[in-house]
Amino acid sequence: MTELVVRRLLIDLEQPVARHWCGGDAFLTAWFNALSMSFPIGEQFFIDSVRNGFKTLPPDQQAPLQAEVQGFVGQEATHRRIHALFNAQIEKHGLVNDWEPRARKRLKLMEGTDPRHGLAITAANEHFTALFAEWLLSHPQLLDGCEPRLKALWLWHSAEEAEHKCTAFDLYQVLGGSHAWRTRWMRRVTLVFLTDTLRQTANNLRRDGSLWRWSTWRSGARHMLGRDGLLRQTFKPWRAYFQRDFHPDQQASDLSANWLRDNATQYTRVGRAEPA
Ligand SMILES: [Fe+2]
Ligand SMILES: [Fe+2]
Repeated sequence: MTELVVRRLLIDLEQPVARHWCGGDAFLTAWFNALSMSFPIGEQFFIDSVRNGFKTLPPDQQAPLQAEVQGFVGQEATHRRIHALFNAQIEKHGLVNDWEPRARKRLKLMEGTDPRHGLAITAANEHFTALFAEWLLSHPQLLDGCEPRLKALWLWHSAEEAEHKCTAFDLYQVLGGSHAWRTRWMRRVTLVFLTDTLRQTANNLRRDGSLWRWSTWRSGARHMLGRDGLLRQTFKPWRAYFQRDFHPDQQASDLSANWLRDNATQYTRVGRAEPA
């Protein structure tokens, strides 16, 4: 079991955010913005899925998982709240979140289904966020040109994603979820997540007026497809998810714990949320 601490990040998101807040890079800004737009609805779905799965367990099986589930819910609830504040700032730049209404329609289809489906979708998304988190924590220089509060926002979120990446996966296994459905959902989630990220990033760039600039495409190619780029660096660990004996812990590193230790003055510890 993982001990998950809920933290309050000590940053002020009432202050405006610069249009190209990510070091003046239009592509990276649009891409981070797109991800942030997906968090309030996505993370609420992860919370609901973990809660729904947890509730179906008999009390004796709930007890050993209770603290971890509370920690997971508390961390994700904090993320979605703080990203909603961030999103309110970037929407002042004329950006429009069309990812959220699309996701809302899709998630409606999940209502009333076996809770293991929601958990498999959550576990797949958590694998994605954990890969992204590990990549960002190992390339923090990407955020060097950002205001310290925004750098802290993204690295704190990454550190906590790495911390709780096993919760939904473990719950899915405890509930007897199959390998076939776990990998089937991963294939679907991969397609949907990549398409949505691409669409929202392009939408943000179009509204920003920087979609057809050479520098935008150069940055996109470098940060996604280059040697240190996200897609190149995460392909193998993404594929590992399809192995029968895969467990998120197999991809553990010290980066999350190191960031949380070195930046302890940037947050305070808060209580946990209720699991159900
Ligand atoms: Fe999160
Ligand atoms: Fe998460």
